[in-house]
Amino acid sequence: MSKTVYLIGFMGAGKTSIGKKLEALWGYPVVDTDEMIVEKEKMPIPEIFKRFGEVHFRKLEKETLQNLSSSSYIVTTGGGIVLDPQNRQLLKETGRTVFLYCEPKTLIERLEKDDPSSRPLLHEKSREEMIELYESRLPLYEECASFTIDTTNLSIEEVATLIAKRLKSE
Ligand code: S3P
Repeated sequence: MSKTVYLIGFMGAGKTSIGKKLEALWGYPVVDTDEMIVEKEKMPIPEIFKRFGEVHFRKLEKETLQNLSSSSYIVTTGGGIVLDPQNRQLLKETGRTVFLYCEPKTLIERLEKDDPSSRPLLHEKSREEMIELYESRLPLYEECASFTIDTTNLSIEEVATLIAKRLKSE
């Protein structure tokens, strides 16, 4: 494995958990952009949004991505990383990017089981608004993807195994 492998997808697609599984099962070194931001700012993401706003969070996210890009890692990302055009360019040019697709109905079911305060962007959003957000981002994930895995009916371990097989065969 020589190039960075980025895992992208909407909130609830399992990016962070799949990254951790890849590390646990096959020893791939994994970093997570959200976790790096939390560590550096010494503040949980909802607090960064609340105190400084989304624009500031996106700035931190972009810096984090840019500082990683020359390293050889699996990088798991926040669902909004693809919003910035320069981030998209970096994802396309500096590594292989795996889009973890999931049907919106399943995503929403997963997200509704999570702690609502952990995802500031979904706070007080209706199902229709979540689907709107999802649909607005779908073309951006597709634009960046080197390959896509439909995670809708797969377990975290099954997705991690598919990614590992793919990486080993390349
Ligand atoms: C965001 C997704 C979150 C986190 C932040 C914003 C987004 O990460 O980066 O709350 O804009 O989709 P996850 O995709 O890991 O939930």
